[in-house]
Amino acid sequence: MVRNNYSTRPHRRTVKKNRKLFLILSVIPVIFLFNAAPGADETDPNFNSRRYDDYDKPAYCGTSCHTDFYRQWQQAMMSQAYVHHWDEIEYFDLAVPHAAKDPVVAGVKDGCNACHTPLAYMAGDTPPPRPEKNSRANEAVSCEVCHTITGFRGDTPYNGNYISEPGRNKYGPRTTGNSPAHEMVKSDFLGTTEFCGTCHNEKSPYGVWVKSTQLEWKEGPYAKEDIRCHECHMTYAPAQTASMGAAYPDARQHLFHGAHDNGKVRGTIELRIHPDILEAEPGETVKFTLALFNQKTGHKFPTGSVEDRIVWLHVEAVDAAGRVYHLPVDPKGFEGEEYTIAADVLGYQDMGIALDKPDFPGVQRDGVPVGDRIFRMPYLDPQGRITIQQWNTKSLGVDYRLGPRETKLETFTFNLPDDVTPGEMTVTAVLNYQKLVAPVADFLNVPEEEKEIVVVNQHSTHITVLP
Ligand code: HEC
Ligand code: HEC
Ligand code: HEC
Ligand code: HEC
Repeated sequence: MVRNNYSTRPHRRTVKKNRKLFLILSVIPVIFLFNAAPGADETDPNFNSRRYDDYDKPAYCGTSCHTDFYRQWQQAMMSQAYVHHWDEIEYFDLAVPHAAKDPVVAGVKDGCNACHTPLAYMAGDTPPPRPEKNSRANEAVSCEVCHTITGFRGDTPYNGNYISEPGRNKYGPRTTGNSPAHEMVKSDFLGTTEFCGTCHNEKSPYGVWVKSTQLEWKEGPYAKEDIRCHECHMTYAPAQTASMGAAYPDARQHLFHGAHDNGKVRGTIELRIHPDILEAEPGETVKFTLALFNQKTGHKFPTGSVEDRIVWLHVEAVDAAGRVYHLPVDPKGFEGEEYTIAADVLGYQDMGIALDKPDFPGVQRDGVPVGDRIFRMPYLDPQGRITIQQWNTKSLGVDYRLGPRETKLETFTFNLPDDVTPGEMTVTAVLNYQKLVAPVADFLNVPEEEKEIVVVNQHSTHITVLP
């Protein structure tokens, strides 16, 4: 049976007899609500099932034995998943207050932690202490989180439905080598994409897939070739895996580079732009066609936190006198296209719920030049408005992202102005990427780096403007 840890349920260890009646009365409406959502269940066996002490600290694994993996892990988002500034802001300023106000999303107070700080979740320590308190919740997705996982419950990995079995057994790819600290148990599970999917697929309390990196992979060309997440995010190199241990030709590097590594994002999409005619007079129309080829990702681009990310295509022509013309994309006319062309409109009004601003008008939806093509899939709240609150997502808009190995064509029809300067005209297409839509980042005071503009790729072409 599939489950949903966003639902509210009795906390196994805290339920006392005298609270039973209260509990029964209070879960009735909750069960009623959650039956409406596919995949809902009122109990999650992971929650409040363990103690922090059941797990070793990353520093224990990393200080004298797994020194290289420990440093790699510290540089990766895995170690930041709880303490990272934007995670802290979204969880404490939006999700937790929202959970207190809306029974449908009440479960997120606990549920976010199933993936961002699994030990806190399994210890029932939710909300966990703030990062500044330096509690064990800060360990985030630690060595022990992953290396105690033996499988998952149900038939689809999502919402942290991993099975964690802490103890002397550490699960990994080999049994060779010996460790005085623990047993090495070979498990094929860590090598599967389902393992990653337990945290990289997420269903909202409304039953909508709001994170589906592993599901996207499964539908795509890389699954057919058995090129798993690990091949691109935990690449192999000849190395020792522990300071006293044997060297292997294919030691799994704990890199996990993703959206927070600009080098991983750069070059993901290849661009080529060409005109339909090479020479044109003022007043004439030239059509530019741009091909975008997703050569790098094993899932869609963007993936994961799709509600936050924005990828947009900006095309400019510069005439012989240096005058710049912005070329808006030609609409294709598909349903929901309005979300994929930058406009001067507001969105994200549902942030007002958590912030106690019931009439919050929202902030700019895109924050990029009007008329630019946006590759995204909008998340829509119960009122049908665009949202960055994935837990408050009741439906999804058009999916206009770039699939793995997909090529999309975009056209730009340019009517040369009468006063354009004759000579060579250069037309440049730039594909930009931002982790968090800038107007939202500004509104919530998220540090600058989250809205840094990364150029994914660019390409130019020329035409001659005749006198
Ligand atoms: C063929 C190589 C390839 C495979 C296979 C692959 N990825 Fe990626 N992944 C990339 C590239 C390149 C990026 C950077 C561009 C981007 O952000 O999408 C990326 C980005 C990501 C990100 C960051 C996305 C964001 O916006 O924050 C996550 C998370 C991720 N991958 C997880 C996975 C998981 C989980 C799997 C397996 C189900 C997987 N990847 C399979 C190449 C791959
Ligand atoms: C997000 C999950 C995750 C985290 C966090 C993680 N690992 Fe791993 N680890 C893996 C996976 C997956 C493999 C490879 C499994 C496979 O290929 O079958 C692996 C492999 C290993 C191996 C064996 C490498 C080899 O090639 O033989 C060691 C040792 C290891 N990890 C130690 C650590 C240590 C120490 C930490 C913390 C500093 C850590 N891991 C953090 C997922 C994780
Ligand atoms: C226990 C949960 C969990 C498991 C299992 C897990 N991840 Fe993650 N992973 C996370 C979380 C949470 C983050 C997000 C950190 C953040 O941005 O706050 C993350 C981040 C990442 C990133 C970096 C994304 C970025 O924005 O830069 C990559 C890449 C990634 N994971 C790949 C993988 C792969 C590949 C596997 C399987 C081998 C895997 N993860 C298994 C929870 C998990
Ligand atoms: C099913 C596991 C899961 C759950 C549940 C979950 N997250 Fe995440 N979250 C992730 C993963 C994995 C990533 C990284 C995805 C990526 O990089 O694309 C992520 C990324 C994020 C990011 C973006 C980090 C960045 O720097 O771009 C924020 C913020 C965040 N989560 C907050 C939350 C909040 C708040 C909740 C609860 C409402 C929540 N998450 C619930 C797995 C989860």
